[in-house]
Amino acid sequence: METKTKIEEQIDIMEKISKINEGKNLKYYIFTMGCSLNENDSEKLCGMLEKMAYNKTEKIEEADIIIFNTCCIRENAEDKLFGKLGEVKKYHEKKGSIIAIGGCMMQQEHIVEKIKKSYNFCDIIFGTHTLYKFPEDLYKVILEKKHVQDIIDIDGNIIEGIPIKRSEKTKALVTIMNGCNNFCTYCIVPYVRGRERSRAPKDIINEIEELAKKGYKEITLLGQNVNSYMKSEKCNKIEEQDKQTSYGYVNSFADLLLAVNKIEGIEVIRFISPHPKDFTNDVITAIKKSKKVSKLLHLPLQSGSTEILKKMNRGYTKEQYLSLVKKIKEAIPDVRFSTDIIVGFPGETYEDFLDTLDVVRKVNFEQVFMFIYSRRVGTPADKMENQVPEEEKHVRFNELKELVEQQIEENNKKYIGTVHTILVEGKSKTNDKLLTGRTDSNKIVVFDGDENLINNIVKVQIVSEHMWYLKGKIVE
Ligand code: SAH
Ligand code: SF4
Ligand code: F3S
Repeated sequence: METKTKIEEQIDIMEKISKINEGKNLKYYIFTMGCSLNENDSEKLCGMLEKMAYNKTEKIEEADIIIFNTCCIRENAEDKLFGKLGEVKKYHEKKGSIIAIGGCMMQQEHIVEKIKKSYNFCDIIFGTHTLYKFPEDLYKVILEKKHVQDIIDIDGNIIEGIPIKRSEKTKALVTIMNGCNNFCTYCIVPYVRGRERSRAPKDIINEIEELAKKGYKEITLLGQNVNSYMKSEKCNKIEEQDKQTSYGYVNSFADLLLAVNKIEGIEVIRFISPHPKDFTNDVITAIKKSKKVSKLLHLPLQSGSTEILKKMNRGYTKEQYLSLVKKIKEAIPDVRFSTDIIVGFPGETYEDFLDTLDVVRKVNFEQVFMFIYSRRVGTPADKMENQVPEEEKHVRFNELKELVEQQIEENNKKYIGTVHTILVEGKSKTNDKLLTGRTDSNKIVVFDGDENLINNIVKVQIVSEHMWYLKGKIVE
C-alpha cells in the first residue's frame, strides 16, 4: 500500500507539471550510459517526462531539459560524463535548459562532490533509489528555481506503476530484480544499486501480458544477478498471493521462466545477467522445457584462473565453470554461450591469463564481452597489491581479442546455408533498404524484404558471413 501512495504522489505532480508546460512545446534530451538495466530506467524517465508534456529530441541544443543517466562500472564512463557536462553548460547558460544527472555514478559521494564543485550549474542530482521521484525533484526546480540533490543510501522499495516509454516496438526490457549481493571484489554495482530486491511475480507477469497485448514479441528479463531472482527476500517480502499467477505458482527464477513461456504472443525470451553460481538444475530444466527461451546463455566467466576467481570472490573455480558448461551442453544440446571477461585483475600473472585463454578455447563462446580491469574507488580490489601495469593489460586484452575474433570467424562460417527463425526488428541501421533481426544465438542478420514484415517471425537462410553480422534471404 505504501509504495502505491508513493507513485500516486508522483502522478499528481506529473499532472501539475503537465499543466504548467501545456502548449509550450518543450523538449527533453536523454543520454543513457551503461547496461540494459539503465536503459530500462531511462525508458521510465522518458515515460515520466512525456507525462509532464515534454517531447523527446535527438538534438541536445534544442532541449529544455537534458538528462544524463550514468554508469560507473568502469572509469571511461566518468570521462565521458565530464566531457558532456562541459558541453551542456552553454545550453544551460544561454537557453536556461534544466540539467539533471542520475544513475549509478551519483551514488558515489566523491563524484557528487566533484559535480557540486566543478559543475555547479547542474539543477538535479538523483540516485538509483530515487528515480521514481524525478517529477517531485523537477517540480522543485521549476517552482523554486533551486538545485535539488536527491540521493539516499538505503535500498529503495520497488516502485510499481512508473509510466514507461519504450524505445523499441518489437522487443522489450523487463527488470525483474534490482541490486546485487555478490560483492565481486572489482565491482561497484552492489554499492550503487544496493541489495537484491525482487519484484512480485504477479507484477512481472502483468507487465509482460500488457506487452504481449501491445504486440511485443521478444522479452529480455533483467537483473544484475537475474537467476538469483526471489532468493533473497529479506528487504522485500513478497506476499503469497502475489506469487500466484495465471500461469502457475512462481517462487523462483525457474518458475518465472516457465510462466513467461506460457504467455501468448511472446515468442522469444532472453535474460541477463545470470551468475554461474545460481545456474541451478531447476533453471537448466526450465530453459530446456521452455521453447521460447533463447538457447544462447550468458555465463560470465570473468577469469579462467581459479586463483584469480578466488580473489574476485566469484564463488567458482575454473573446473567448476567448465563442468557447468558441460552439464548445460549435455542437457540442452543446441545451447550456445556468451560471456564477460576481465583482463588485468590485480595479481593476474601471464599464467593466470593463459587459463582464461584456455577456457575461451574450450567453451568456444558465441560472443565475448571483453573488459580491461578498471580500479573502482571503494571496492576491495582497488586496494589490492600487484596492480597490473596498463601496458600489460592492453597486451593481454589484444591477445584475447585476437583469439575471440578468430573463433567468431570460424563460427560464422558454420552459419552459411543454415535456416533461422527470426523476429524482424526493423530496417537495418546501416542500409535502410534491408531488414534486420537476430538469430536465437544473437547474431545480427540483414536480409531483403518488405517493411510490412517488421514485428513478424520469418525463416531466413544465411548466404554470407561478415565479422559482426550475417547476410540472409527469406525462405518462408
Ligand atoms: N552482474 C553481471 C555484470 C555486471 S557488469 C555479472 O555478474 O555478470 C558487466 C561486466 O562488467 C561484468 O561482468 C564484468 O565483466 C565487467 N566489470 C565489472 N566491474 C569491472 C571493473 N571494475 N573493471 C572492468 N570490468 C568490470
Ligand atoms: Fe558486480 Fe559481481 Fe554483482 Fe555482477 S555479480 S553485479 S560482477 S558484484
Ligand atoms: Fe553501470 Fe549501473 Fe549498469 S554501474 S553497468 S549502469 S547497474
